[in-house]
Amino acid sequence: MLDTSTENSFILVVDDTLTNLEIISEALTEAGFEVATAIDGKKALQKIQHRLPDLILLDVMMPVMDGFETCKHLKTHPETHDIPVIFMTAITDTDSKVEALSLGAVDYITKPFHKAEVLARISTHLQLRNLTKNLETRVVERTSELNRVLQDLQEYQLQLIQQEKMSVLGQLVAGLAHEINNPVSCIYGNLGHALSYFESMSHLIDLYQNYYPHPVTEIQNEISEMDLEYVRSDLPNLIFSMKEGIQRIRDMSRSLRIFSRSDTENKIQFDIHEGIDSTILILKHRLKGSENRADIEIKKHYGEVPLINCFPGQLNQVFMNILANAIDALDESFTSNQSSVINSEIIGIPQVLIQTMLSEDTNNVLIKIKDNGIGMLDEVQQKIFDNLFTTKPVGKGTGLGLSIARQIIVQKHEGKLEVNSAMGKGSEFIITIPID
Ligand SMILES: Nc1ncnc2c1ncn2[C@@H]1O[C@H](COP(=O)(O)OP(=O)(O)O)[C@@H](O)[C@H]1O
Ligand SMILES: [Mg+2]
Repeated sequence: MLDTSTENSFILVVDDTLTNLEIISEALTEAGFEVATAIDGKKALQKIQHRLPDLILLDVMMPVMDGFETCKHLKTHPETHDIPVIFMTAITDTDSKVEALSLGAVDYITKPFHKAEVLARISTHLQLRNLTKNLETRVVERTSELNRVLQDLQEYQLQLIQQEKMSVLGQLVAGLAHEINNPVSCIYGNLGHALSYFESMSHLIDLYQNYYPHPVTEIQNEISEMDLEYVRSDLPNLIFSMKEGIQRIRDMSRSLRIFSRSDTENKIQFDIHEGIDSTILILKHRLKGSENRADIEIKKHYGEVPLINCFPGQLNQVFMNILANAIDALDESFTSNQSSVINSEIIGIPQVLIQTMLSEDTNNVLIKIKDNGIGMLDEVQQKIFDNLFTTKPVGKGTGLGLSIARQIIVQKHEGKLEVNSAMGKGSEFIITIPID
């Protein structure tokens, strides 16, 4: 409802003629208004500082500061700009009336006063003023409401796009990991056979050498040319390191499958340590050092925590977003400063500490991911979960990582995502997820 009631409105009457002040004050007070008076423009402006009136009745001719001057003052200040001003002029003075209106007065009343007319005009202008005020606040309210809805929509849209991208990527990766599996298992299996074939042949060579210690020259030449002894001693090493390589590919493909597991409609029981490990393996290439910084050390302090009921693929995305940020923060702190050696002496080696534990009440699992990177200013900390907030250059940061992480943790898992950070000291993200 629009409030247009003018009851209890506060009116300031400014006039240097005391009888005028008295007559008007009395009429206004009788009509239920609150009234204050001033005897010149300067005094009026002082009074206004204590309390803003809803309307001002202003005489034109006054000592010290006349009505026009006062009106100009009122109209140039934002706080008083909107207060309706009604001039009180002599009945014959047309020029003053024109000037008054041109200065922004809403109306004028003529002396001598007709009480009923004065009251009617005042009441009309108060109502108009109230209406405008109400409309203004409504417009402001509606506009901010609309802005909020618009922002929500944009956020949601971006997150949908991002999640869609992740899910397509996830399917692709899962498919690839699956395809890699067969050939890799085949190589892995056959390497075992290759080794045992080689061992048999090696044994056979021993036998030959035992029974025919002096072979013909051609064979002797061949043996020394191919460096038989070296080949025989090196081949097992070779097969062994191939096996290791293949084992790494298998681990990687398993991690890819765990990381990109497509989420079912319903939550499932999941070992978060498996999720974290697979995420680390995927980020492994980013941990390696460069000329600017040493290798990033990942320290894991895993506690005894049960499986949790969750959407594993989404949780992995959260781990990924937080760990990738930690690596960015370490890159920045160890390369932003030219004297990175000195820097790393202060901070130590670049490190990410990952801890998991049960909450005290044993209803939640806590996952803490802490880096000793660049850290954040308080102003930045306030905004990091906002959509599109990033301090990284265009092309590097999207500002989506943490807002998606928070959505996944808070909305999808009814958990909490918190941050502790200090500039130059590093940051810690704490994920809390209910076990069931
Ligand atoms: N571990 C961290 N250390 C320092 N600042 C961080 C860390 N994690 C996040 N931030 C800050 O939060 C901002 C938002 O992160 P995020 O939502 O992942 O977007 P993006 O990484 O694309 O910038 C980053 O730009 C950075 O300023
Ligand atoms: Mg990020």
